[in-house]
Amino acid sequence: MCGIVGYVGDKKALIKIMTGLKSLEYRGYDSSGIAYVKDGIVKILKEEGPIRNLEEKINYNEITTIGISHTRWSTHGAANKINAHPHRQGKITLVHNGIIENYEQLKRELLNQGYCFQSNTDTEVAAAVIDSLYKKSQDMVLVLNEAVKMLTGSYAFNIINDDYPDTIFAMRKDSPLIVGIGQKENILASDIPAILHITNKYVVLDNYDIVVMQSNKLEYYNADNQKISKQINIFVGDIETISKNGYDHYMLKEINEEPEIVKRILTLYTDEGRIKIPFKLNKYASVDIVACGSASFAGQLGKFYIEKFLNIPTSVTFASEYRYQKNFFRKDKLVILISQSGETADTLAALKLAKDNGVTTLAIVNRKDSSIAREADNVIYTEAGIEVSVATTKAYLAQVIVLLLLAASGSKEEGSVLNDLKILPNIITKQINDYDYKKVSKFLYKKENIFYLGRGIDYFLAMEGSLKLKEISYIHSEAFAAGELKHGSISLIDENFGVIAVVTDKNISHKTISNLKEVAARSAKILTITNINDDSFSNYVIKIDDISDVLNPLLAIIPMQLLAYNIAKLKNCDIDKPRNLAKSVTVE
Ligand code: AGP
Repeated sequence: MCGIVGYVGDKKALIKIMTGLKSLEYRGYDSSGIAYVKDGIVKILKEEGPIRNLEEKINYNEITTIGISHTRWSTHGAANKINAHPHRQGKITLVHNGIIENYEQLKRELLNQGYCFQSNTDTEVAAAVIDSLYKKSQDMVLVLNEAVKMLTGSYAFNIINDDYPDTIFAMRKDSPLIVGIGQKENILASDIPAILHITNKYVVLDNYDIVVMQSNKLEYYNADNQKISKQINIFVGDIETISKNGYDHYMLKEINEEPEIVKRILTLYTDEGRIKIPFKLNKYASVDIVACGSASFAGQLGKFYIEKFLNIPTSVTFASEYRYQKNFFRKDKLVILISQSGETADTLAALKLAKDNGVTTLAIVNRKDSSIAREADNVIYTEAGIEVSVATTKAYLAQVIVLLLLAASGSKEEGSVLNDLKILPNIITKQINDYDYKKVSKFLYKKENIFYLGRGIDYFLAMEGSLKLKEISYIHSEAFAAGELKHGSISLIDENFGVIAVVTDKNISHKTISNLKEVAARSAKILTITNINDDSFSNYVIKIDDISDVLNPLLAIIPMQLLAYNIAKLKNCDIDKPRNLAKSVTVE
């Protein structure tokens, strides 16, 4: 989603602002811009396309101590220079992450007040709202708290007011915003990576907080215009956390972190042969798992484990659907929300719906202090560390491991699950290194259509494998229940079709194999990821170890991720920042 950086301090502010903004590129964007104060005048530069287009317009030697900047992922208005942020109305210049849902009605009212608009964005309307309120009251804290009452939707704003050339005002609702606290310099940003070149001390803003930030002053106010104090956190990590460490892409680096992440999760959530995860499922009569994208596919594996170990009926629903379907909120139901970023608007809205209906909520989240983590009744962190690549890999695997531990906790299979998990890191390392994924990707990367096939838990894995392939290689792909293919969709299969089969469940592998033979009979090329020995139906086979029914599916995740990576690399795709995608989708 959009990225924001606001800075006040050093007289060479521009390089500090843009260093922070570039570390937010991973969030996905299609234009960028910066506003800074030079000799008392607000200057605005903005460009369509990658940040380097903006940098070509910046003179880093220009003296300024204050600026706000933005990477835009378009919601309202085309991805062009006019609609890029910052936007300016009257004395107010601002950047915005989020969506103002009532901007059209507000725009009509402002047009009647004589305001003119350059862009088609909701953000420019927000700037005019604040400017119109400022005309009535020169107290910016009061003005911003009045604006809150007029704006419907989500926002994180960084604002410069001409009358306060040494101050940045900020406010947020449902879009993340943090304050980095430096020495005679301070920084606002959408996410931690953007502040680490300045400081590792940070404050997480809560909804409706207002910040007044100068180089040596930070004041926080609540919705009642009262000054408040905020907890200061220390980020444990460093620039290394957000560097590629020699890998070609963050995605490859993050896949290679997976063995260590499994060890970290086991260290944190197990002790002396027992699972110590801080939540027990067995008192609930039913579970709704609600999430988006890869998190929902992790949720499918969670469903498999919860029903296998605890016999608790479990459903998995896309958050964007959950909010509008008929739900049966009962006191003995648990709603589990899974989210890597903890900021996904659809998932956050589903969380609020469950809470409004008196249902207990559990968030399984990677990013600490995120909105979902703070809003849920209970939270379990997946501890995968910051994930920079837009396509999730390590965070997805961490979600699956945490769900497995949560489901196995207290079950009679707890001991055997833990024994299996202990050897998982080494097997993942072997799975990453012992195979030439580039070679085997060569027969697939020119395909225009690829089916991912599987049955049961393998079908759930196929869902994630297919999404990974689509989002970074732009190849059309679909996860398909192997047994369902013959009921119509097999008509698509011909020699131009690619098929990637996941066959790890030995109890039903013979059924899946007969489906794959039906596909082979129609000349499609098949790559099979499997732990079984029958490879008569496949053109290529990626063998995985055979540990146990519970763990075998997890081993298929690694080849799926590395296949998608190598296919995308052969196609010279922008693997870490795929077109149209955002790392955190904070709009509904
Ligand atoms: C994952 O590779 C995708 N980028 C996307 O599907 C993602 O999983 C989804 O948007 C949910 O994000 P979240 O886990 O941060 O809530």
